[in-house]
Amino acid sequence: MTRQYSITLLPGDGIGPEILTVTVDVLKIIGQQFDIKFNFQEALIGGSAIDATGNPLPEETLTVCRNSDAVLLAAIGGYKWDNLPRHQRPETGLLGIRAGLNLFANLRPATILPQLIDASSLKKEVVEGVDIMVVRELTGGVYFGQPKGVFATETGEKRGVNTMAYTESEIDRIGKVAFEIAKKRGNKLCSVDKANVLDVSQLWRDRITSMATEYPDVELSHLYVDNAAMQLVRAPKQFDTIVTGNLFGDILSDAAAMLTGSIGMLPSASLGLEKPGLFEPVHGSAPDIAGQDKANPLAQVLSAAMMLRYGLDEPEPAQKIEQAVLAVLDQGYRTGDIMSPGMTAVGCQSMGEALLKVLES
Ligand code: IPM
Ligand code: MG
Repeated sequence: MTRQYSITLLPGDGIGPEILTVTVDVLKIIGQQFDIKFNFQEALIGGSAIDATGNPLPEETLTVCRNSDAVLLAAIGGYKWDNLPRHQRPETGLLGIRAGLNLFANLRPATILPQLIDASSLKKEVVEGVDIMVVRELTGGVYFGQPKGVFATETGEKRGVNTMAYTESEIDRIGKVAFEIAKKRGNKLCSVDKANVLDVSQLWRDRITSMATEYPDVELSHLYVDNAAMQLVRAPKQFDTIVTGNLFGDILSDAAAMLTGSIGMLPSASLGLEKPGLFEPVHGSAPDIAGQDKANPLAQVLSAAMMLRYGLDEPEPAQKIEQAVLAVLDQGYRTGDIMSPGMTAVGCQSMGEALLKVLES
């Protein structure tokens, strides 16, 4: 029987619409091949939502997302909106949808593709074989803790405040996701914190440590975040799965992404306890190349594969998409961000066509 999924598309800003167009074409073909019917609807987020409604996350967008099986987001932001007050910034829309859909677990894989190994800024022998999954807590920590704001002190001087806070239950639920993922991968989990200085991190470390007894097969280690940053660039192959809080995860996942040299290739998944999950590329909206057919659509396409695997429990079509991406790289097609001598330079659309050709063959 045909499976049906309702998918909300959030093209957002910059290169978002172009890379999402390619991805929808890929999903349509995959749907035919696997007897899946995707019902797509589009909604506004980020700068384009600000322009249309004054709000980076209109209520209607949240409603449409909540009523769907999965959300596929492209990218948000651009110079045009950078100087608006915080509640009207595109980033506020992104944080709002994470919180609004309760997407507390953010999965950011950093996998070196052999075809692109020379794109890394690190030595080949350091990065060859790197396959890391960063599990970042996404709806708590200093991003959301109260109090926050800029307040006047008694002397009239301004004081900016954010609060890094985690409850036990917030730590436990992200810990569980991370242990489960580590179990399905290399059975190694490294928890990253700053327990030598921060109380919130000590609680984090204690809870994660106490969970380890439930996962006897998973080898648990702990690193302070400064050391983790160093180890990531010194010897990244020591890592399998990393679990960490919101801010540390933001920073370390960028560093991990850069190990691959091709941040334009990396997908991500944001999950809650229930559907819908949200799936988006790690890269941003690249306003400097928007609308010029230069963007690399592959991270968005791989985000659709993550959507199938983690959001819809459809691992087979997910794998087919991932294989198609490897195939077009094997055929030598490269967008500008991953171009190297001897390869065939293509734009966003042609990369999409090459993918469709592989999928149809
Ligand atoms: C990310 C981004 C966001 C974050 C910004 C755009 C709000 O850097 O997804 O990593 O800090 O979480
Ligand atoms: Mg970031």
